[in-house]
Amino acid sequence: MKKKKIFLKTFGCQMNVADSEYFASILISTGDFEVTNDIKEADVIVVNTCSVRKHAEDRESSFIGRLKKFKDESKTIIVLGCFAQKAKEELKRKFPFIDIIVGPLEYEYLPEILKERLEINSLSSNIHFNIFDKVSVFVPIMTGCNNYCSYCIVPYVRGREKSRPVRDILNEIKCLLDKGVKEVVLLGQNVNSYSGLKSDSIKINFANLLEEIASLDSKEKFWIGFLTNHPKDMTYDIIKTIKSYPNISRHIHLPLQSGSNRILKLMNRNYTVEKYKELVELIRREIPDVSITTDLIVGFPTEQEEDFQQTIKAVKEIEFDSAFVFKYSVREKTKSAELPDDVEEEVKERRHYELLNLCDTIARQKNKNYINSEVEVLVVSKSDKKNVFLGKTINDRIVEICSDRDLLGNFIKVKIKDVKFHTLIGSVSS
Ligand code: SAH
Ligand code: SF4
Ligand code: F3S
Repeated sequence: MKKKKIFLKTFGCQMNVADSEYFASILISTGDFEVTNDIKEADVIVVNTCSVRKHAEDRESSFIGRLKKFKDESKTIIVLGCFAQKAKEELKRKFPFIDIIVGPLEYEYLPEILKERLEINSLSSNIHFNIFDKVSVFVPIMTGCNNYCSYCIVPYVRGREKSRPVRDILNEIKCLLDKGVKEVVLLGQNVNSYSGLKSDSIKINFANLLEEIASLDSKEKFWIGFLTNHPKDMTYDIIKTIKSYPNISRHIHLPLQSGSNRILKLMNRNYTVEKYKELVELIRREIPDVSITTDLIVGFPTEQEEDFQQTIKAVKEIEFDSAFVFKYSVREKTKSAELPDDVEEEVKERRHYELLNLCDTIARQKNKNYINSEVEVLVVSKSDKKNVFLGKTINDRIVEICSDRDLLGNFIKVKIKDVKFHTLIGSVSS
């Protein structure tokens, strides 16, 4: 029988990327489906959505709107993700041609829904089996979030924090390593508050989990990455564990959000800039080659020029290896939606531009320091350009390498020659 084709379009964060792969793996494991990159030939079109900012929802609505012209009896359109969770009824009304809408809080029923709606007879086990044959694979270790940062919709669309049992995570990772995966990136909204059951009565924390994974017996070398960390939950134990195992990533994404203590309090972040800076100093002292990256929001309700200047000051002092800068976007239901969205769009624009420029200048300078040095690189993908490969360092810098040898999946030594935007350019050391 001819296999049915699935087209996947994923918006949002790494968790969504992992969910899309998991979703596709459920269908592929039946033996009746395969993935296509050509939307026109797809039998099943899947849009995995994000709700973190209005801008994301607007792009997704416009993408879904354009699907109408592909829709006919033979095609199934499925909308998943956080926007589906938040606005199921609104999406159904605006886009009546969508066949299935399921958000993260209902994912446990997804296999059953698919079985019924796509007329599938049997579904096999739910293990994530790297359908795209990637060198580096995301492994969710927890879902949801309990932090309720006042601006954020994630706790409402992803539910309460829930850690996966240790055994499930280790089995999944062992299976991925056996298949030749060279890096697992542990995912959660807040990985450092992981608290999972090892056996019926023993709980283990994130530092213990990292240790368990780092000491797994594997035929081949592998790295362990992890995303995202909350500053308030970053313990000395975690830092020491990273330091002790050379196969744990030296990249810590540690969202600061704002450099003003007044705004941090309104954001319900539970730390001060001073505490954050102490943490960064400690991390850098213990792990000298670490890279620390961050997320920043400009234009949070009531943000004055003075608050913004404090963010600028903090960024100059901390010197992040790279940073994402976002303009505040009101999210219904959240605590900060009760405050007036009083920073004018023009002001948000200007602060966004200024902060982004500053972060980029610092990041570029940090990358330039790598010129003429030799770094170890895991080659994770092939670029569209002929003979060009993309890799990453253990502290998560992207490296472009030109070679006529197939380097994919190898750990290699690379001499850095140049820097282009955020990418280091190098060649294989002889
Ligand atoms: N759980 C992760 C990230 C979640 S969302 C963490 O806490 O690190 C990713 C980033 O989007 C956040 O760090 C924040 O900077 C940004 N963000 C979240 N809600 C936002 C909003 N309403 N407006 C603008 N940016 C937002
Ligand atoms: Fe949102 Fe805060 Fe949870 Fe991150 S930690 S997902 S920003 S509520
Ligand atoms: Fe991720 Fe967006 Fe949901 S950032 S958790 S897909 S709201």
